[in-house]
Amino acid sequence: MASAIGTRAAQHGHSVELLSRNTAKAQALADQIGKGATVGTFGARPAGDIVILAVLYDGVVDAVTNYGDALAGKILVDISNPFNADASGLVTPSSAAQEVAAAAPESAHVVKALNTIFGHVLAKGTPLDAFIAGDSAEAKATVAAFLDSMELRTLDAGGLQAASLLESAGLLLMGLARNGAGFDLALGAEVS
Ligand SMILES: NC(=O)c1ccc[n+]([C@@H]2O[C@H](COP(=O)([O-])OP(=O)(O)OC[C@H]3O[C@@H](n4cnc5c(N)ncnc54)[C@H](OP(=O)(O)O)[C@@H]3O)[C@@H](O)[C@H]2O)c1
Repeated sequence: MASAIGTRAAQHGHSVELLSRNTAKAQALADQIGKGATVGTFGARPAGDIVILAVLYDGVVDAVTNYGDALAGKILVDISNPFNADASGLVTPSSAAQEVAAAAPESAHVVKALNTIFGHVLAKGTPLDAFIAGDSAEAKATVAAFLDSMELRTLDAGGLQAASLLESAGLLLMGLARNGAGFDLALGAEVS
């Protein structure tokens, strides 16, 4: 997902900084993305206003906790799907995004987004629908502008409590893909 999001963002003129506990991997991805993508210091304050948490659910709270106050004031985009081992259910009764918010500095704003899009579908670069949720209208507007700039039409599902709906939608995407629709599938909405 870091590759798909970073590439798409760079192609649409955004500055991309990659942060990883494995600097060599981050540098390889920065080289692959090109367009001036840089590598930051893991654990240090990220350069951008929007920080995409492109880590597995099992590591996301840990990663946010490790950064601690370095994430103060940032918009944190939680893309994780808290799936169980065979991706047939969710492992949290709340939502990954709310767990991230509880671990993040108070001044950070968490927005759930991009968890309902397969990485390889995102990487195709075609226009897609992107569902988001979050408690800060300002943070959601910033994320929406970012996503819209990459031809990802933002549809707002509501406050951060709606993140659980988006995580269930991630499960729906997986179920549909496995049961006939195939993995080139993207979820969307008709808006008239
Ligand atoms: N793949 C998809 O199509 C898709 C679609 C929608 C949402 N998502 C969500 O997107 C997230 C990333 O998925 P992915 O498929 O890109 O996974 P991935 O290829 O396995 O990448 C996960 C990354 O997370 C890093 N990581 C794991 N635990 C960490 C920790 N404690 N601290 C710092 N970094 C940590 C890993 O770093 P190392 O290399 O150092 O281990 C790795 O770079 C997941 O939450 C997934 O549910 C994925």
